Amino acid sequence: MLNATHYALRTTHYAPLMTIHELRQKFLDFFKEKGHAIIPSAPLLPENDPSVLFNTAGMQPLVPYLKGEIHPMGTRLADAQKCLRTGDIDEVGDNRHLTFFEMLGNWSLGDYFKEESIAWSFEFLTSDRWLGIDPKKIYVTVFEGDADAPRDETSIGIWQAQYEVKGIAAEIGVAEKDEPAEVDGARIYLYPKSKNWWPGATAKGLCGPDTEIFYDTGLPHSPAFGAVCHPNCDCGRFVEIWNNVFMQFNRVEEGGSLEVLPKKNVDTGMGLERTAAVLNGFTTVYDLDVFQVIFREIESLCDKQYGKEEAVDRSMRIIADHVRSATFAIGDGIIPSNVQQGYIIRRLIRRAIREGRRIGITESFCDKIANVVIGEFGVQYRELETKRSEIIAELVKEEEKFSKTVANGMKELERILEKGVMTSEQAFMLYSTYGFPLELTEEIVRERGGSVDHEAFMAEFEKHQELSRTASAGMFKGGLQDHSAETTRLHTATHLLHAALRKVLGDHVQQKGSNITAERLRFDFSHPSKMTAEEIAEVERLVNGAIQKDFPVTMEVMSPSEAKESGALGFFEQKYGDRVNVYTVGNDQTGVFSKEICGGPHVEHLGELGGFKIQKEEASSAGIRRIKAIIGVGH
Ligand code: ALA
Repeated sequence: MLNATHYALRTTHYAPLMTIHELRQKFLDFFKEKGHAIIPSAPLLPENDPSVLFNTAGMQPLVPYLKGEIHPMGTRLADAQKCLRTGDIDEVGDNRHLTFFEMLGNWSLGDYFKEESIAWSFEFLTSDRWLGIDPKKIYVTVFEGDADAPRDETSIGIWQAQYEVKGIAAEIGVAEKDEPAEVDGARIYLYPKSKNWWPGATAKGLCGPDTEIFYDTGLPHSPAFGAVCHPNCDCGRFVEIWNNVFMQFNRVEEGGSLEVLPKKNVDTGMGLERTAAVLNGFTTVYDLDVFQVIFREIESLCDKQYGKEEAVDRSMRIIADHVRSATFAIGDGIIPSNVQQGYIIRRLIRRAIREGRRIGITESFCDKIANVVIGEFGVQYRELETKRSEIIAELVKEEEKFSKTVANGMKELERILEKGVMTSEQAFMLYSTYGFPLELTEEIVRERGGSVDHEAFMAEFEKHQELSRTASAGMFKGGLQDHSAETTRLHTATHLLHAALRKVLGDHVQQKGSNITAERLRFDFSHPSKMTAEEIAEVERLVNGAIQKDFPVTMEVMSPSEAKESGALGFFEQKYGDRVNVYTVGNDQTGVFSKEICGGPHVEHLGELGGFKIQKEEASSAGIRRIKAIIGVGH
């Protein structure tokens, strides 16, 4: 909630102590000094992970390596990863939530473990050479132990030693059922799996205890949230800024028992915007100058100002957040549409446009905001600059389309009113099908002397939301989803299909998108016309020939230019690290069937795939065809 104190704070802190660009750079410089390779952010669209729609955490693109694949850049990695979380889309507009954000992270792939990880976190945060935070403002949480896994004594001991060096006696606070014992001077708080275990208390796969680092904002505790304050209290005094996950177990079955891993990993995540806001003394991420420049642009498009009226601020925050997300998403090739990722982006853009209308912007504006976003982030994320015209064109197109939709909604509304009164179901239909805002429907209905049952509308709204939440829950869960054997096989089949298409149709064929579910692969590629039945049969014949011959699949590590010279396929316009993995199907004896830069994983022998069949070949968009195919069928 914004209030007078908030505005006072914002004014006093307006000159930022540290921008997000500075914080990002410091983080990467620090870990470079500690022997980490700095890797580029993966695109927002997960390459071969059907379990999520977007990357929602820094570790997601690294799952294959956390599971044992060799990373070409070594065993110590750090990056800033683009993330998109839309599970809480309806909460955006409050002070805390963002849909797009960057997650800073450092990883040990079977290299260092708790000792270095914790010591480096503390050093980065408190050393005057780096962030220089007063160590007294740092509080940490550690896993308290249960019947399944022991208390993380190692982390407790390391934290105590770290605080001791700073002359702070770090006592332990036990938060039984989230109610802490009152311990003066406690800095290390213990919690159960619900708070200090990643990814989830019973989730299958790689997992382990984590230790979370909180910053004490010094704001007074509010008793409305409990008698005593503690790091996980929701009153707002403590803000989590960094999570260190220690992957030391594998849970064989969901809810089953734990196996100790021979090679332990570290996965850390620091929310860039949130941490920068806290360090600047801001109470909201929207005070960061990356958002303030967007607000200035919005102000120039209407006669409203940020920081004067709560409802206006909310609209401006939604616009800034959603258009920033859409800009990054389109930059990564996610085009607004009616399905999957494209649908989420369409919703974000439409919600932004609605908020724009609400504060009196009459012209097309998303493109203008996108230009500001690109100006702010184009240096760190070059793809925004190179795709600028595409991003702008898509946003303009989308805004025109939405205007038409609203105009159609208007006609529908007139039709309904001609026939009689507007029911709550009809008002909801106008909202869900035509994106017609309830306020507008209400206003028009009121002008004609009628009214809409607001409560019935909300009931309808909630019912539908519940449904869509349930439907998308599986897709948004994220975390260390299992790369099932089937997914791996389909992934290898995708490489075969790509190579076969180039052999049959020509070298103009380029991968434009890939998506794998447990049942099928989907592959988008550039090609100007519909494939003939003969071409489809020939592609199937080539792929099945390679499978029948049981070609081996091997992996080599090389530089991107060596990979390119060797004829490996790749997205060379995309930023690669200094070293890449190249997967080759076939060898000198059998002949090379396919060679591609890829993170893996893949099968070792094609015989594991079984027969390959194309189920569908259709247009995806202009100049792009889409194939859906399955494997494991008889030859
Ligand atoms: N993977 C951990 C997180 O997202 C670091 O919190």
